[in-house]
Amino acid sequence: MIRKALYAGSFDPITCGHLDIIQRASKMYDEVTVGIIINPSKAALFDVEERTSMIKCVTSKLDNIKIDSFTGLLAKYVNNNKFDVVIRGLRAITDFEYEIQMAQMNARLYNKGTETVFLMTQPKYSFISSSMIKEVVMLGGEVDGLVHEEIYKLTKKKFNVK
Ligand code: COA
Repeated sequence: MIRKALYAGSFDPITCGHLDIIQRASKMYDEVTVGIIINPSKAALFDVEERTSMIKCVTSKLDNIKIDSFTGLLAKYVNNNKFDVVIRGLRAITDFEYEIQMAQMNARLYNKGTETVFLMTQPKYSFISSSMIKEVVMLGGEVDGLVHEEIYKLTKKKFNVK
């Protein structure tokens, strides 16, 4: 039986923290889908096509990764695609409160006993978020080692930063 995992998020853009979670999940499950949420209430810098190709670029060495996008309720998407597991990354204790609420609500909504699995973020990535990366790049700061080189280039280009 193939064990299917979902790692969902905005990935606007994907960071090394996200990639670390994807790499670790890809060793644990047969197939990992990176699900890009199209969230109308969160203004995105990159459109879904751009985010898809960025994720494709940084995960190209992993052979069990799929990339998809969805809108609306996460649990509906999970049920429709019969994921066994939903992966979440925990960066700090502050993530925990929100994550446990979401996991418990989702557990009611999943219809085949899908589990939420938390992976602890490596300390070197525990302070980053996509918004922070965007702000630093926009203001001309460097984010070496926090996003893939290609993602850094594309983010600079979006902000017209040399
Ligand atoms: N490394 C780096 N950054 C990380 C990270 C990691 N390991 N884990 C999380 N982050 C950052 C993300 O970059 C993101 O930063 P941003 O807010 O600056 O963009 C932030 O933490 C939040 O990430 P995440 O928790 O993945 O939120 P999200 O908005 O990207 O997506 C969903 C989370 C998709 C799971 C959630 O929004 C969802 O379920 N939406 C569907 C609606 C729904 O079903 N609602 C009911 C829920 S019970």
